Amino acid sequence: MSLTLGIFDSGFGGLTVLRAMLPLFPGTRCLYLGDTARLPYGSKSRETIARYAVSATQFLENQGADYLVIACNTASALALDEIRAAANVPVLGVIETGAAAAAEVSVTKSAIVLATSATIASHAYVAACAELGVHAQEKACPLLVPLVEEGWAEHSVADQVVRIYLDEALAAAKAASTQPDTLLLGCTHYPLLRPMFERHVPQGMRIVDSADVTAARAAEILATKIPDSIAPATCEFFVTDSVARFAHLGHRFLGRPVNQVTHVDLGD
Ligand code: DGL
Repeated sequence: MSLTLGIFDSGFGGLTVLRAMLPLFPGTRCLYLGDTARLPYGSKSRETIARYAVSATQFLENQGADYLVIACNTASALALDEIRAAANVPVLGVIETGAAAAAEVSVTKSAIVLATSATIASHAYVAACAELGVHAQEKACPLLVPLVEEGWAEHSVADQVVRIYLDEALAAAKAASTQPDTLLLGCTHYPLLRPMFERHVPQGMRIVDSADVTAARAAEILATKIPDSIAPATCEFFVTDSVARFAHLGHRFLGRPVNQVTHVDLGD
């Protein structure tokens, strides 16, 4: 039995999802596509994101992916229907899984969701959480992706920015008389800032990371298809911009060296 997974992201951030998946998928071939020439997705329109995401996921399917994981929150929030309509294989997005995890851990049934501007503007998390009986207080955090990509995930500036965003979200929740007990990290880059979030959330607030829960959900869905193997998963990477930059920056997100990177052209 063999399994080939296609993991798609706008660039580097989806490597946090792949990183969480690798230990759960022994003997599996993982194809990762980072659309680095066209990132960031987080500031683009629905039409553009859908067009990019559909061409990218079709590429992964053509490479032999049996199952697609849309690691990018922005693409999952704005283009999941279009990706599913164009795909001939099952597709898992990060929004539903993140919302389900928040619903599971939240006692007050109230959560704060932090994400890119495009994800927040789509209200995809609000809708997914509402279906599960959870109220979501949204907050766009557009400075966090560039800070992480700059390598400042541990910098005092990032620490201050995280604190300000969080304070603003908590103040808005207070003004709305809600009592969020869960913080949902709705962007691929935020797991790298997790220690900062942990430092600044009010005591007792739970943090849900959509990367971890998506990896766990994919493993649950594919349990009968994961090869019974002791060999580790293998990874092949495809990028639409510089191979060298992806290998360099990607190391930080994946937590290990990024080899076997191929440049591909997906058009405009
Ligand atoms: N991957 C995107 C997300 O999770 C963040 C980076 C981008 O804006 O392209 O929303």
